[in-house]
Amino acid sequence: MRMARIRPVLVVHGGAGNHRYNEDGCSAAARRGLERLRAGEDALAAAVAAVVAMEDDPRFNAGTGAMLRSDGATIETDASVMDSSGRLGAVCCLRDVRNPVLVARQVVETPHWMLAGPGAVDFARAQGFGPHRLEPAADALPPGAAGEPAPAGRHETDTVGAVVLDGRGLFAVASSTGGSAPAMVGRVGDTPIPGCGYWAGPHGAVAATGVGEQIVARLLARVVYEWIERGMPLQQALERGVALFPASCAVGLIGVTRHEAAAASNREMPFHVLCDDEGAGD
Ligand code: GLY
Repeated sequence: MRMARIRPVLVVHGGAGNHRYNEDGCSAAARRGLERLRAGEDALAAAVAAVVAMEDDPRFNAGTGAMLRSDGATIETDASVMDSSGRLGAVCCLRDVRNPVLVARQVVETPHWMLAGPGAVDFARAQGFGPHRLEPAADALPPGAAGEPAPAGRHETDTVGAVVLDGRGLFAVASSTGGSAPAMVGRVGDTPIPGCGYWAGPHGAVAATGVGEQIVARLLARVVYEWIERGMPLQQALERGVALFPASCAVGLIGVTRHEAAAASNREMPFHVLCDDEGAGD
């Protein structure tokens, strides 16, 4: 019997509340992920590569573009990875690491699923990451940080994320954030918490962006995944997920299933969908 060919696809977002004119950063990141698939690497490697590209772009609230905490001096980052084979890794309250998602990827290789704060930093150093001092981009300052008014056009809150289906049918998700502003030092949002900011299983992968406290309260990524699992069309599931929130609360979702790729948000949200029409990577 001839098996139907799986067409690889990636979706990358740059955060609910960010600007659509930053979408070129999402498309560049998706291409970085696709390069990994075409080099024979899997969905998890592709999702991580896409998120690394976003972390290195100061227009996005992750890695290099991470926001300051409410003390006006501290940057702490959260990141996560998961795939449909059960690989899971996350970090939270990580400091002075350029690419938190790479540390989350390394946590997969430990007996644990998450490392936090000083332990996460020690682990990162032992793995050869950093130290790298993250400098907040001018437009990444939270309102009132350092006594300054919020610059026009700065993003309110966001995260970056990527979901991927590879040619072997593996689904993966990776996410990274500098947190939601204004946030206390030590605060953790949805991005590193499975079932809240992200989920991947045999039916697809989902990534969320927006106000972490509200996303966690709704177990958003897992709830949306369960709708997909029961057969709801992806776009409908993502829009229903967004509709769980009041208009005052920024939220966005991206997802991928075997035959669909989509995004939804109640804010402006840069994103990019990239299909591998050459079918390479399987
Ligand atoms: N969604 C990012 C955060 O709330 O930390």
